[in-house]
Amino acid sequence: MSTPVQLPFEQANVLQLAPGLRTLQSRGSVHRVRTPDGDEAWLVTGHARVRQLLDDDRLSRSNPDPEAAAKNSGSALLASLLGGFATDHARLRALLEPHFSPERMLALRPYVEKVTGQLLDRLAGQEPPVDLVRALAVSLPIQVMCEWLGVPQEDKDRFGGWTQDAANIGDPVRSKQGLGGLFGYCRQLVADKRRNPGDDAISRICATEGIEDSEVLGLTALLLFGGYETTVARIGTCALLLLSDPEQWRALVDDPALVPAAVEETLRLSMPNPHNGGMPRYAVTDFEIDGAAIRAGDFVMLNIIAANQDEAAFEGPCRVDVARDTADSLAFGYGAYHCVGAALARTQLQVAITQLVARFPTMRLAVGVDELGLRDDTLIGGLVQLPVTW
Ligand code: HEM
Repeated sequence: MSTPVQLPFEQANVLQLAPGLRTLQSRGSVHRVRTPDGDEAWLVTGHARVRQLLDDDRLSRSNPDPEAAAKNSGSALLASLLGGFATDHARLRALLEPHFSPERMLALRPYVEKVTGQLLDRLAGQEPPVDLVRALAVSLPIQVMCEWLGVPQEDKDRFGGWTQDAANIGDPVRSKQGLGGLFGYCRQLVADKRRNPGDDAISRICATEGIEDSEVLGLTALLLFGGYETTVARIGTCALLLLSDPEQWRALVDDPALVPAAVEETLRLSMPNPHNGGMPRYAVTDFEIDGAAIRAGDFVMLNIIAANQDEAAFEGPCRVDVARDTADSLAFGYGAYHCVGAALARTQLQVAITQLVARFPTMRLAVGVDELGLRDDTLIGGLVQLPVTW
């Protein structure tokens, strides 16, 4: 077997796929790699294979070896959040899907519009350049998430602080304290919702027949981890992709009806994670794919970022084209595990981009793309800053 390729690869800048990843992809779909932690793994880079394996019973999301899982904070966290749901995924989906129905999203949209409007009012009052990550990306999703979950207004800041701390992979003490704060608070919140239900997701989940408080807690934490950082990161990267190509920004200013397609296209190209890894999976059985002999227990990373820039799936894959057909994008995963919160993420991104282009038609980057960096202290990553002017 050939020597594993060491991750992560160097990226020229935050917009360009790491050349090392592109080279691997040109050689084939499935590769032996060594993770930054020093463990051997498989990295899947081709679109067709990533799509297939995202929804494949030969791979599982939980690590069969709990001791090894404990080393990997990300997978340990996911496993603890999924808890019993790991073995009853259908129940997880049945419990969550109704809360993201088109009617629910329509009802939430005015709130998303109001908060975005307030954040952009504040932005307009500042002297440019202003950091769009701070001004919009980190603030909008936590407020929307709290509203949707039913966290009282006065607790939103504390809740946001714990959530950010909990997702910090660079500082285990901070992460543990954040998780502790979050769980303690959510426990109380669930008790309150049981006594005093409101028109929110936690109250509605609590109303499910036979559901235990511990399950509601696990679901709340899963939604926060699945939905908060991911959306923060994409508001930044999607805005950057549009601002870095003035022609595409102008196209949206001229025709705002293009915004939903622009959101899909920029989600396809978003690469907030500097680790070059992918969706984590573990082989539950031995199998062979594209000449790679995968053994039960092997760690497999499905690299959606590389897949979404595979020439075999998208013509001129690195180009932002707001008119492109993005039906094959894997930005929200594929199959049984397809992102349950995609509609909520799309609502926020569409509202954010719509209001940005309408209110700041002359917005542009205040620094060169080469000066931008990605966070490496959180699970998801995202831009450190996005200085803009107008
Ligand atoms: C732009 C933002 C988002 C992106 C790019 C994203 C991406 C993804 C992806 C790729 C998956 C599949 C994971 C896998 O195959 O293992 C996923 C699953 C999931 N996402 Fe999202 N997500 C986003 C926003 C959200 C939001 C807003 C929520 C909830 C409020 C959410 C909740 C979840 C949950 C609970 C799962 C697990 C689904 C399951 O196990 O069946 N996500 N997401």
